Amino acid sequence: MPGRFISFEGIDGSGKSTQARLLTDALRARGQSVVLTREPGGSPGAEEIRRLVLEGNPDRWSAETELLLFTAARRDHLEKTIRPALARDETVITDRFADSTRMYQGISRGDLAAVVDQLHRLMIGVEPDLTLLIDIDPEVGLSRAVARQGAEQRFEDMGLDLQRRMRAGFLALAAAHPGRFRVIDGARDPQAVAADVLAAVTGG
Ligand SMILES: Nc1ncnc2c1ncn2[C@@H]1O[C@H](COP(=O)(O)OP(=O)(O)O)[C@@H](O)[C@H]1O
Ligand SMILES: [Mg+2]
Repeated sequence: MPGRFISFEGIDGSGKSTQARLLTDALRARGQSVVLTREPGGSPGAEEIRRLVLEGNPDRWSAETELLLFTAARRDHLEKTIRPALARDETVITDRFADSTRMYQGISRGDLAAVVDQLHRLMIGVEPDLTLLIDIDPEVGLSRAVARQGAEQRFEDMGLDLQRRMRAGFLALAAAHPGRFRVIDGARDPQAVAADVLAAVTGG
């Protein structure tokens, strides 16, 4: 069985991390080898960069510097975690990937969108086989995210308006790449969402 590369995307509190875990459990129960990983991070070097980008003041980095840090982290994640797992024919499930950079950068600095794409082509060059977009109303997502707040609030602090534009941006990205994306309604109980996710992955 060929390795398969699956990403979860969506706004904060949509349920990505919850669904990534449930899908991992479901596929393992079916006997598949699964590597569950996340961005930013997913390898020791990239986890160090994660702390740099997610903690501290929202204006800590310029948009350009931040983009370079995310790209450096993604490159390490790809080299050290994703490619080796796919080469072993394992399934890779990642909680966020390049679409999150496209959204965050594209929303905060629209003029950087072309640079985001160029850097991606130069340094990353791969897309997931399947991207599950967990779609949810930003007010619901934000209230869920507030309930589990920790130190990593740099982006959550940017507020509801950003989340609204992000949701619209993710839906537009999904519409532009219908072959790779599946949009899942996240405003239901976790098990109902997980059933749709599993159906999208197994083609059932
Ligand atoms: N379908 C759901 N219904 C209600 N609460 C949920 C649901 N999915 C996740 N949660 C809760 O909402 C919070 C955010 O979920 P999480 O999976 O961390 O979202 P994300 O990773 O997209 O930010 C968590 O506390 C989680 O337990
Ligand atoms: Mg999460």
